[in-house]
Order: sequence, then structure tokens, then C-alpha cells
Amino acid sequence: MDTKVFDVREIINDKQALETALRNAADMLAYGGTVAFPTETVYGLGANAFDEAAVKKVFEAKGRPSDNPLIIHIADMSQLKGLVKSVPERALRLMESFWPGPLSIIMEKEDRIPDCVTAGLGTAAVRMPENPEAYVLLKLAGCPVAAPSANLSGKPSPTKPEHVLHDLDGRVSGIVLGRTCDVGIESTVIDMSTDSPVILRPGIIIKEDIEAVIGPVRLASRKNSSESVPKAPGMKYTHYAPDAPMILFEGSPSEMLSKILGRASEELASGKKVGIIATDETLDLYEKSPVLSGAGSICILSTGSRKDLKTVAHNIFHILRRFDEENVDIILSEAFEAEGIGFSVMNRMDKAAGEKK
Ligand code: TXA
Ligand code: MG
Repeated sequence: MDTKVFDVREIINDKQALETALRNAADMLAYGGTVAFPTETVYGLGANAFDEAAVKKVFEAKGRPSDNPLIIHIADMSQLKGLVKSVPERALRLMESFWPGPLSIIMEKEDRIPDCVTAGLGTAAVRMPENPEAYVLLKLAGCPVAAPSANLSGKPSPTKPEHVLHDLDGRVSGIVLGRTCDVGIESTVIDMSTDSPVILRPGIIIKEDIEAVIGPVRLASRKNSSESVPKAPGMKYTHYAPDAPMILFEGSPSEMLSKILGRASEELASGKKVGIIATDETLDLYEKSPVLSGAGSICILSTGSRKDLKTVAHNIFHILRRFDEENVDIILSEAFEAEGIGFSVMNRMDKAAGEKK
């Protein structure tokens, strides 16, 4: 397929120019095409949510299993009416506090939404993104837009325009090249369709942020195993996997450092190219370690600072893709304490890693 590229990187702060540049992309969306676009979380691959054939093209382009429902993106509150039966009072308070922004809210769906969008569920996840390119595009398209992350199924979510080109050029009608995603991990998904709200996917908006607005909510566990709550179907698939196997090392900072140094020197000795996911606090310690100096082929990248886990969320998917480019044979990664945003980051790292030490 010939993919039309809409490069708006030079004009992201000029609303008028954006409108002109994105009119074609919006028409593609409205009339049955598939268009990738930036949001503040990750890039999405959109189709008109009311157009079954178009939505099926999204699943096809990504190689996404059909039992994994999509999030529906809207530009303003008036669009909710055609999508959900009613907006529960607490859901409305969440919208008032967090929209536009990185929160997807699951509610009982209207019959008009095709089954393929929601994988046959009686509910739909809806979100109003904050990114200005997304806003202009959704507004011009005039229809709600069903959009999963714009990666090939199983790969790390795309947070930069070049990630989307890499995965989807030739597979979709259009790609909007905009800014790098601020947040870097996907939206928090909360199920508000029952009386006891559950966070199905953790994100940058954390449990405590939500509880400050609507009171107690449950959180699906980090391991995602013996839970009795309903899950986001997407959480059961292999996810975010870099090409090389990844091992996650847990423990205190000094324990992680010494375990990773030990394993790295073994792997290097056997001729492997090693990738290390460090933090701002430890990058130097690896780079200057006598254990690794001159010991073969190694690529050490920091994912951000432990003192500000938003930086880690912002970088994590990009870093995983960087190791694919570097063709490393194995990735050794530090873990984070599964608290607050650390919980959301570890949710992604657990899925990317095949093994834990
Ligand atoms: O930040 C994001 O949410 C990005 C951007 C593009 O908006 N989108 C995204 O979509 O991450 P996707 O398809 O990669 O993830 C959607 C998640 C999946 O885990 C899916 O199972 C869950 O939301 N989900 C969607 N509708 C659902 C529903 N009705 N019930 C339960 N889970 C649902
Ligand atoms: Mg995804």
C-alpha cells in the first residue's frame, strides 16, 4: 500500500497551519482509511470507529488478535452520546479532572459501535487525547476514532515518528509525523462500567490520582495472575518485546549493579553483544567499571532518573527499540520499585522481559 506521509513537525505550534496540513489525513479517517497519529501517550493507528471495514484494516495492519478491543478517541464531549449508553457520575468526574489526557474510561457501549471495535464486549473504552495534532485531526475527521498503539503487534509502542514509519510504512493509508510523545507509556485504563471501578492498565495517572477524585478503586495486580477482576484482554498477550531476550534484575541499587555487571561479563566472554538498561544514577558506574572495560561489544543506555520516574516512562519504549537497532544479543535491565509510576513502568518491563533475576 502506498502510505501518504503528513510531516507536521515544523508546524506543531501553529494551529492554522496544522489544520491545512491535516485536512487530507482527516478525510482519510472519515472515509474508511487508516491513519497513524501522535498522542501524548504513544502514537496510535486510527480508523473511523463506526466503520467496521476500516477498523478491520487496523487489526490487519498491526497483526493484532481480534479479541483485543480498541480505545475510541474523541475530540469533544458531545461525541460521547453516540458511543456510550450513559456516563456514570464518577466517570464524569474523572473526565472533568483528567480529560483531555492519558485516561481511558470503560463504559457500557451503544449498539451502534461495531463488535470488532470492542471485540464483542458490551463495553467500550473512550479517551480524549491532549496532543494538539491529535486534537486537530480528530476534530476535522468529525468521527470517533478507534485507535490502538501504532506498533506491529507484540513490539514496543511507538513514541517517536520514526518508530511508526519503521513499523507501518506501506501498511496503512496515512502517517502523521508529529512530536515525540510526552508521557511515553499508554493511557491508564479504568473500568467504570460496574459499581466498583478497577484500573485494568496502569499509566502515568496513578491510583492515588484517581482516588483523590472518586474515592477507592481497585488495581489489577502487577503479576496479572490469580486476579478475580476482569482484565483488559490486551494484557494477556506478549508485549513490548525487543528482538533480543531481556532479563530484569531486581534488588537494591547496588545488588542490581553487581548482578548486571557479573552477567554482562559472562555474556561478553561468550562473544555476545550486550545491552544494559541503566539509570542516570548508574550509567557512569557501568561505563567506568573495570569489569566491562575493553571487554567486547556493549551498549549501555540510561532510561532516566530514579528520582523522577516520569523520565523513565518517557524513555522506556524508545530505549527498547534502540537495542533492536544496535542488534544486541541480550538485554540486561535494572528494575524499579513497583510503586506509583514505578508500578506502571514495571507493568511494561515485566511484559518485555522473558526472565527475572
Ligand atoms: O494511550 C493509549 O491508550 C494508546 C493511544 C493511541 O491512545 N492506545 C493504546 O491502545 O494503547 P491499545 O490498543 O494498544 O491498548 C488498549 C488496551 C488494551 O489492553 C485493551 O485490551 C484495553 O485497552 N481495552 C480496550 N477496550 C476495552 C474494554 N471494553 N474492556 C476492557 N479492556 C479494554
Ligand atoms: Mg498496544
